[in-house]
Amino acid sequence: MEVRIVEVGLRDGLQNERAVIPVEHKRDLVERLIRAGVRHLEVTSFVHPKWIPQLADADELAGSLPVHDDVVYRALVPNRRGLDRALKTPVHEYAVFMSASETHNRKNINKSIDETFPVLAEVVEEAARHGKPVRGYVSTVFGCPYEGEVPVRQVIKVCEALFEMGVYEVSLGDTIGVATPSQVREVLRELLRHFPANRLAGHFHDTRGTGLVNAWVALEEGITTLDSSFGGLGGCPYAPGASGNLATEELVYMLSGMGVDTGIDLDLLCEAGLVAEKLLGRPLPSRVLRARAAGNDSSKA
Ligand code: HMG
Ligand code: MG
Repeated sequence: MEVRIVEVGLRDGLQNERAVIPVEHKRDLVERLIRAGVRHLEVTSFVHPKWIPQLADADELAGSLPVHDDVVYRALVPNRRGLDRALKTPVHEYAVFMSASETHNRKNINKSIDETFPVLAEVVEEAARHGKPVRGYVSTVFGCPYEGEVPVRQVIKVCEALFEMGVYEVSLGDTIGVATPSQVREVLRELLRHFPANRLAGHFHDTRGTGLVNAWVALEEGITTLDSSFGGLGGCPYAPGASGNLATEELVYMLSGMGVDTGIDLDLLCEAGLVAEKLLGRPLPSRVLRARAAGNDSSKA
């Protein structure tokens, strides 16, 4: 089995931190993650800086990323204005995002679901004209902080619209980390009746400790692209309590222990996490990182 890990810590992680990390330190973290073997990095968002001040340096960071031929840099783009900014940088791929639930969509991007479709369609179409592939994110797939349960037909409707626009993949977000393994299996089986596994990705938050097991269920269902954050950084500022993505260290530890090569060196990855801890001034939640910090070498894969 081959698993593609999309490292989202610099975007999903840092957008939820109180501290703002200076751009040169972000660049250093990018370098460290690449040295560890990470090849898909979501580095920032071209959203409104007032909404996400932690990523207000998007233009500067994206414009000064280290050049590596085999690394794919990605960034979130919410609308035409964001696309125009992104196109001035060498970022390779973009991601548009919206929610399966109406209230989270409004809180997050200030529009109804139906109002969002044409905005994203314009981004995907214009990006294609510039040769830029676009991923789609669907948030609140497994539950919404404002509406609770989200019917799977709403998820299907949004996925269908995104694929029709031309996104190459949809990443399914458990935005507030409420999903349980049986629910993930059930929802994925329903989605897989409509979309092929190789066009879907799993984006699990670990708020309630189910991130890793949910990722495993996704793999069992044939979904081999998984998003995670080094250190377990992460969240969505417009989803209260949406702490921490699934930690990349935990995913890499589990996979390499099971004989799946991710191309990522756990020692170097942990070093990047420890640097991020220093910058943020707090321990990060990744359990593999915690074990390393405590000098517990049995966590070495
Ligand atoms: P809006 O205020 O509705 O925008 O924001 P608007 O179109 O009405 O424009 C208002 C002003 O903002 C205008 O300026 C625009 O130019 C400016 P003015 O004319 O008044 O001077 N503007 C911008 N400036 C810079 N960059 C832009 C931009 N767009 C408009 N791109 C908007 C709409 C979407 C921009 C806003 O709601 C926003 O930035 N939201 C950010 C939300 C966000 O980043 N959330 C977190 C990421 S999603 C997530 O974490 C979930 C995920 O991880 C998956 C999961 O876990 O589920 C992906
Ligand atoms: Mg997220």
